[in-house]
Amino acid sequence: MPKTSTGTTTPDINANQVNDSFPKASPESQTHSDRLKHKIQSEIANKGDKITFADYMNMALYAPGLGYYSAGLKKFGKQGDFITAPEISPLFSQCLALQCIHIMEQTKQKTLLEVGAGSGVMAVELVLELERQSQLPEHYFILELSADLRDRQQQIIKTRLPHLYDRFQWLNCLPEKPFDGIIIANELLDAMPVHLIKLEQDSIYERYVSLNDEGDFIWKDDVPENPNLLKAAQKIQILQKSLSHLKDKPDASYITEVNLQAVDWIKSIADILGSGAVLLVDYGYTAQEYYHPQRSMGTLMCHYQHHRHDDPFYLPGLQDITAHIDFSSIAHAANDSGLSICGFTTQAHFLMAGGLVELTQDLNPNDVLNFTEVARQIKMLTLPEEMGELFKVILLAKGKKLSLPAFQFQNFQNRL
Ligand SMILES: C[S@@+](CC[C@H](N)C(=O)[O-])C[C@H]1O[C@@H](n2cnc3c(N)ncnc32)[C@H](O)[C@@H]1O
Repeated sequence: MPKTSTGTTTPDINANQVNDSFPKASPESQTHSDRLKHKIQSEIANKGDKITFADYMNMALYAPGLGYYSAGLKKFGKQGDFITAPEISPLFSQCLALQCIHIMEQTKQKTLLEVGAGSGVMAVELVLELERQSQLPEHYFILELSADLRDRQQQIIKTRLPHLYDRFQWLNCLPEKPFDGIIIANELLDAMPVHLIKLEQDSIYERYVSLNDEGDFIWKDDVPENPNLLKAAQKIQILQKSLSHLKDKPDASYITEVNLQAVDWIKSIADILGSGAVLLVDYGYTAQEYYHPQRSMGTLMCHYQHHRHDDPFYLPGLQDITAHIDFSSIAHAANDSGLSICGFTTQAHFLMAGGLVELTQDLNPNDVLNFTEVARQIKMLTLPEEMGELFKVILLAKGKKLSLPAFQFQNFQNRL
């Protein structure tokens, strides 16, 4: 959801199913999707008869030239499949910039690294705000997996910030350690491939992707082969049982996601970070909420031209596939690898305490068009039924603990 699909975000548990009202893929797009489908089919055949869902999702999103993020589709904004916060309003990036200034003051680091920069609009607005505040970073690094998006980022920055272009540098992988600075990412973790697990009474299965006789993708439940996945699944099963009545219902099964890549990413970040901070914004919950019994079908979600649905096998390469973030697993990975957790709050609280009020106080109510438009943007970013509550912000730090105004309204880190 997030990644608002239709302008409003609705409860995320019951997705729509693919139906005839969805816009048809053009013949060209269909051919593109078929090519990716064949590639995934071959991968399944090469691996025996199944691949993990994480491998499927990785190919569907990132197969070179064919995956959803790797190919040249529009993706973001009205003509794309979903809208993210920096695409909704520059105020989002401006608030992040104001918080970065506080981090810079406390860490004495003036380098930024944005990971997964999408269209590049957040980098533009953030750096513009830093320039307005006379706090330009020495370097703004961008690490982006998609070559197509990297091109678009370079274009937008060249066009909108020609005088600052030489401060930007694109990386192919995380920088060498020690990296001293601030690492920021919006909606990065939710775009990482997840494993699917199915819990039944005392059994744990992984949901693999296989093929039926017609060559269509089908689910195949089998034992997890990855020991880290099994360990994570066992933890979830214990938590899940403590929260549910599964033990009373022999047939009940519980499907959910495990994002091993996000946990590994946090560990890699902790490893390279010398002194500095990590500020992550994404949609998700604490483990207690994520693995609540009611969420028995997990949070996997697809976005196709502003239609949300729950079929990841639909038009591979033409739609986004995403899952919510279990922020407790992020916090534990951070803690285990030497990062301290300095704040965890909702996007609404973060923005309201983090500069939104100050940034909009000079708005002229007589300029009705602009005033109404900014009010609309603020509503989308902060209302609980829009992005305000589901989206969370977490601040991690290496070295000394940091304190930001944006976490001063509410800091829920004891719930992680
Ligand atoms: C959902 S989009 C969000 C884009 C942008 N941050 C925004 O808020 O509009 C996810 C982005 O992360 C990138 N991405 C995913 N995994 C990545 C990784 N491991 N390293 C770098 N970029 C990654 C994708 O290519 C894409 O640009």
